[in-house]
Amino acid sequence: MPAAADPPERHFGDRQLAESLLAFWADAGIDAMLLEAPVDRIEAGKFVPPPRQAPAAAVAPVAAARPGAPAPADVSGAIAAAQAAAAAATTLEDLAAAIAAFEGCPLRTAGAATKAVVCRGEPAAPLLVIGEGPGAEEDARGEPFVGRSGKLLDRMFAAAGLEGRVLITNTVFWRPPGNRDPSQFEQATCAPFLERMIALVRPRMLLLVGAPSAKSILKREEGIMRMRGRFFEWRSADGTLELPAMPTLHPAFLLRQPGAKKQAWQDLLTLTERLDRPPRDA
Ligand code: URA
Repeated sequence: MPAAADPPERHFGDRQLAESLLAFWADAGIDAMLLEAPVDRIEAGKFVPPPRQAPAAAVAPVAAARPGAPAPADVSGAIAAAQAAAAAATTLEDLAAAIAAFEGCPLRTAGAATKAVVCRGEPAAPLLVIGEGPGAEEDARGEPFVGRSGKLLDRMFAAAGLEGRVLITNTVFWRPPGNRDPSQFEQATCAPFLERMIALVRPRMLLLVGAPSAKSILKREEGIMRMRGRFFEWRSADGTLELPAMPTLHPAFLLRQPGAKKQAWQDLLTLTERLDRPPRDA
């Protein structure tokens, strides 16, 4: 008797593989493939790798440690301009206008951003939430955290009793190309505006969403898994403001790794418990 035929093996064709990979990337927020220089891939074999970035020693220290856009020569000039523009703002509306007019952050002209994305939520919120940077949907709508990640964040805030008690912003106000992490220089040019926002809003706490936010705001290099769920003391550059700040996991990570939602939820409960304590005990 002839042996029963094996069930046909399922092979993913190249097209299915490519579609599945693209869907995975799109889900992770990667919707553009960018190099620093254009590459003609049609003439195969003539591919020339893009030039290396300037060696670290030639770049100002603030930009040297993390990848991203190279720093322009005048790092301190851009930061000084941001400080002056931020200091002149006396309301959140003034600040949003100053950010929109600011030309010192390279992300503004890096090709992905169409407008500045400043903040959304309650202007007198007790909790300021700081993400890493706007994505495609945020850029299109001009508001932070309005895509899938933002919807998850909003649901978590509602479940924790924080609805209407948060103001949401980012470490940078323009969308980075290809949704890459913002560079230290880009974050440094936006930091004076962020500090001014904190001074104007006077929140009682900061929630730092994701590693690029936690590392930049707290100036620490530990991984997010070591920092999440703990309170750190944030201090303004001029030393006049101090606030408790808690790093937590980014909602985009939670969408990819739903098993980690438990940890993020625990972080939010710890933070809410402290936020709801009478100020003298907090
Ligand atoms: N991710 C962020 O970090 N910020 C946004 O505004 C949107 C997605």
